[in-house]
Amino acid sequence: MSCKIDFQPSADLLKERIVLVTGAGDGIGRAAALSYALHGATVILLGRTISKLEKVYDEIEEAGGPQPAIFPLNFEGATLKDFHDMAETLHKEFGRLDGILHNAGLLGRITPFEQYNPELWGQVMQVNINGPIWMTQALLPLLQASEDASVIFTSSGVGRKGRAFWGAYSVSKFATEGFMEVLADEVGSQDNLRVNTLNPGATRTQMRRSAYPGEDAATLRTPEEIMPTYLWLMGPDSRGINGQKWDAQPPRG
Ligand SMILES: NC(=O)c1ccc[n+]([C@@H]2O[C@H](COP(=O)([O-])OP(=O)(O)OC[C@H]3O[C@@H](n4cnc5c(N)ncnc54)[C@H](OP(=O)(O)O)[C@@H]3O)[C@@H](O)[C@H]2O)c1
Repeated sequence: MSCKIDFQPSADLLKERIVLVTGAGDGIGRAAALSYALHGATVILLGRTISKLEKVYDEIEEAGGPQPAIFPLNFEGATLKDFHDMAETLHKEFGRLDGILHNAGLLGRITPFEQYNPELWGQVMQVNINGPIWMTQALLPLLQASEDASVIFTSSGVGRKGRAFWGAYSVSKFATEGFMEVLADEVGSQDNLRVNTLNPGATRTQMRRSAYPGEDAATLRTPEEIMPTYLWLMGPDSRGINGQKWDAQPPRG
């Protein structure tokens, strides 16, 4: 597994690309949406809290990025019909998709498995893996219409090595890695579509605070600091890279 934290993107790296970012209202997704837009992409901001998406929309406009779009969607209640309606809307509006950053995520609870609530387990699986899978299926024709599309699934350290008490979150991230491998193998012969996973590593966000409440957040990289690998994997420099597991930052010493 490798990381591209030293990647130096050109200002127009993502010029004229249409990129969907899920969970774009906060944390890493917000930073990625802003960073992609400031490198030229038209970003579709997907999330469940409209006020947060509107704030990111305004920030992109104020910074002079291409006009973004807002797509409100809550993975918890989303149905297949919602994903197909979404595909139809994006088809009408843009005609293609050059990238998806699957970033929205739910931590659930860090608790011994014997106390894990099955309903919460289902919610975490819905948001972290089932929703993204069926959304990807609905959007495949739009990705196929691109000359160079990159699909990035967000993983985690606990999606590569299981850890006690991380329950559904860890299992959903293992499933993410597995699904990426399956899909990457299916599209492997197509040179216009690639699929990879990216583990952000410990990053200063609300989710990290919930998982490690006693931690000194000042010791963590910010979402903005881990963007080089996000840009590299979304942009043309990673063309041909398919089925690989990436890290956004080197292991912490
Ligand atoms: N931070 C870390 O250290 C770390 C480490 C490893 C992996 N990750 C992964 O990185 C990704 C981003 O995490 P983060 O740290 O930036 O977390 P975050 O600050 O909690 O942001 C998560 C985002 O996902 C959205 N989201 C949650 N449930 C959703 C739902 N049902 N439908 C639509 N959107 C939903 C949230 O929307 P709202 O703002 O509306 O709640 C928020 O925008 C996640 O996949 C996470 O598993 C993070």
